[in-house]
Amino acid sequence: MNQMLSNVRIPATTGQFNLRNYEETYQSFAWKDVEKEFTWHRTGKVNAAYEAIDRHCELGRAEKIALHYYDSRREESYSFLDLKRLSNRFANILTDLGIVKGDRVFIFMPRSPELYASFLGIVKVGAIIGPLFEAFMEGAVRDRLADSEAVAIVTTPDLAKRIPTKELSHLKHVIVFGDESQLEDNQLHFQSLMDHASEEFEPVWVDREDGMLLHYTSGSTGKPKGVLHVHNAMIQHYQTAKWVLDLQENDVYWCTADPGWVTGTSYGIFGPWLHGVTNVIRGGRFTPDDWYSTLEKYNVTVWYSAPTAFRMLMGAGDEIVKKYNLSSLRHVLSVGEPLNPEVVLWGMKVFEHRIHDTWWMTETGAQLICNYPSMDIKPGSMGKPIPGVVAAIIDDEGNILPPNRMGNLAIKVDWPSMMRKIWKNPAKYDEYFRLDGWYTSGDSAFMDEEGYFWFQGRVDDVINTSGERVGPFEVESKLVEHPAVAEAGVIGKPDPLRGEIIKAFISLREGYQVSDELLNDIKQFVKKGLSAHAAPREIEVKDKLPKTRSGKIMRRVLKAWELGLPTGDLSTMED
Ligand code: WT7
Repeated sequence: MNQMLSNVRIPATTGQFNLRNYEETYQSFAWKDVEKEFTWHRTGKVNAAYEAIDRHCELGRAEKIALHYYDSRREESYSFLDLKRLSNRFANILTDLGIVKGDRVFIFMPRSPELYASFLGIVKVGAIIGPLFEAFMEGAVRDRLADSEAVAIVTTPDLAKRIPTKELSHLKHVIVFGDESQLEDNQLHFQSLMDHASEEFEPVWVDREDGMLLHYTSGSTGKPKGVLHVHNAMIQHYQTAKWVLDLQENDVYWCTADPGWVTGTSYGIFGPWLHGVTNVIRGGRFTPDDWYSTLEKYNVTVWYSAPTAFRMLMGAGDEIVKKYNLSSLRHVLSVGEPLNPEVVLWGMKVFEHRIHDTWWMTETGAQLICNYPSMDIKPGSMGKPIPGVVAAIIDDEGNILPPNRMGNLAIKVDWPSMMRKIWKNPAKYDEYFRLDGWYTSGDSAFMDEEGYFWFQGRVDDVINTSGERVGPFEVESKLVEHPAVAEAGVIGKPDPLRGEIIKAFISLREGYQVSDELLNDIKQFVKKGLSAHAAPREIEVKDKLPKTRSGKIMRRVLKAWELGLPTGDLSTMED
């Protein structure tokens, strides 16, 4: 990291913040205090979708705008009452199909109002929602639906083609949003079902510990794992949206993440709606002009985005910012990858706002280490743990390390939004908790004397490209399915825009010659089989890859080659 920048401090801002005094709150706060904010505290009846939408219709927000939706073809706004009715309709459809509490129901569609209505409807029937990012291709879709034994999926005519229904014996219902003429046999038509469904629905009341949301994410070994979150997570979604997003009644909030990733659910759905705040959803792909014009068009006050996006905007230059009136903006946040100090300073210059970095993971369900408006920012630091959470740097035996020593970033168990299961894989789950009393994140970091945490890297081989987490094993497995590829090792290569890009080292099978055409074909093969973001941007062909004597590819050595660094201990390498 740039040593010069590490000493910079950007002083706290002043205003009527929800978290006025961090230190004092940290000392006195207890999670139990939050429970009284919810209806279930009085009634004992729990359902996170009820708390996020229906509750507001009883609190005088029925006509308030819950959702502004905007893409190149559609521009629509929905009140809390509209969303209550639409999600009720969808809940009735699911109930008529025989879907019950605990069933896994997936959504595989681009962002649209229908995605959000379906999402809430699935939660209302007590089913477990599995959101899939639209860029996933057949192999990635199959793995997730098969592992979770999903019974139903909501999709579009185009994306439905990537669902291998014949191989998925549990999948009974494919509900398609689109032109009825494009439907295939055995598919159900979303709009026709919605037209005939009742707007009345009593949510299925569940236990706080019942499953609600399944997000698949990657590790360094094995297939993607299903991280299960429960309704109880709403406690932390609510409280962090209050303290960290600083949401207040009249805010207009824009989270740029897709609900296929956890940021797009915890903070694209629950955070804002548990507070009854107006949520902006921008669909489609967007250019820098689209970003700024969305902020201007809806008078966005709170904006949650990611380092890759900020770097992309920074690359587009400062002049373009001046074309737009961004005076409504009050609070800016970032998540997903290291936020460069340079970007924070750029944000001060062009937006005159501090960009507040936040750290958390799919597994943690909600923000854990953050910067707050009422606290100084040290650019390059992720901030301090939220009140109610204890974070520490520990060694491999679980001993707490003193300030400024690098080690494993760990969180004391537990917190309200902590994952409750890795789907059908208790051994994987236990790995996170192998050090008694701690959740180990897989990130390395240090804490300075003032209690600020500084991200240093991953301790495993997980790749973070444009804020999206990619497991090297998944990419390697796909690569070796290509007829020309004998062996593959995949690493993250540092990249100024994307943080890291995916680089593959391969060796070829007998009879194949290196050519641009072949390498392109291999890239396309991974793209079509997994997804665009998992495809290697660079492929390097080697005669032989470094392996351990037991035959495991040594990614550590590949990475050292790539960075021109010493390869370290090679005693386990085969001859
Ligand atoms: C990994 C989790 C939950 C948000 C989306 C990513 C990295 C996350 C930061 C940050 C540096 C960060 C970590 C973490 N990461 N936030 N503020 N600074 N790195 O969720 O896909 O589960 O990835 O993203 O390495 O372990 P995810």
